[in-house]
Amino acid sequence: MIRALILGGTADANLLAAAIARAGIDAVYSYGGRTRAPADQPLPTRIGGFGGVNGLAEYLRCEAITHVIDATHPFAAEMSRNAIAACAQTATPLIALERAPWDKEAGDRWIEVADVVSAVAALPENRTHVFLAIGRQHIAPFGSRPQHAYTLRFVDPPEGTLPLPDADVIVSRGPFTLDGELEMMRGRRIDWIVARNSGGTGARAKIDAARALGLPVIMITRPPLPDRPRLESVGDVMQWLDHRTCLGA
Ligand SMILES: NC(=O)c1ccc[n+]([C@@H]2O[C@H](COP(=O)([O-])OP(=O)(O)OC[C@H]3O[C@@H](n4cnc5c(N)ncnc54)[C@H](OP(=O)(O)O)[C@@H]3O)[C@@H](O)[C@H]2O)c1
Repeated sequence: MIRALILGGTADANLLAAAIARAGIDAVYSYGGRTRAPADQPLPTRIGGFGGVNGLAEYLRCEAITHVIDATHPFAAEMSRNAIAACAQTATPLIALERAPWDKEAGDRWIEVADVVSAVAALPENRTHVFLAIGRQHIAPFGSRPQHAYTLRFVDPPEGTLPLPDADVIVSRGPFTLDGELEMMRGRRIDWIVARNSGGTGARAKIDAARALGLPVIMITRPPLPDRPRLESVGDVMQWLDHRTCLGA
């Protein structure tokens, strides 16, 4: 019998949850607890950290989890590292549902950097208008460049004061369209974009809009992870579950 754990918080994880519920497979969907009103799921849901590698290993044992699907965001590296270690510790089969990163295309003006601190350093010195398309937990380092005007976009309204003196916040969950992103960037006179290479279609419109407008993008590459099996589509993960059941895994 399968009892799967989906490490979620992404659109892909939500699609997987729907497919697993349709297939009548026993599963739990786990949210990290960063979003105030996470989307409803057709599966039993739990919210919040497990308490590191040992906490997750304990959870897998107590809940008799037979399969783990890491469908977290490609930048949720701590959770992914913990899942690799806890699944190894408990001999629980693990698969990552991870979309491919975006490739640079003709016309893209990307400056690729390894992390947020390098993204800050890559901004020009003179005042410019920057669209910071990154999570709210990553904006503090940009406080060292207060000369710029920033446009931020968050799922939830920010709490407290932002560490940026000249910042405009858009609250929206997306997905975003090319036309919408073009209008937003033109309307706000965006000069530079800071983005993370999340991959997938939902977040891609801003990258296509930047290319269309000839704007430079400081692109933060994905954090490195230990090797792990990964698949890119919900259908492939469903087949993986099916195959492993046939093997009695
Ligand atoms: N990073 C992003 O930009 C981004 C974007 C969209 C959605 N999300 C989603 O937001 C959540 C948190 O992302 P993050 O970047 O903060 O993760 P992270 O830095 O990799 O994780 C930090 C800690 O949060 C807990 N955690 C993270 N994801 C969890 C999950 N799905 N279920 C239970 N606990 C979880 C774990 O705590 P313990 O060590 O205590 O277990 C983990 O060690 C994830 O579900 C991710 O898919 C993240």
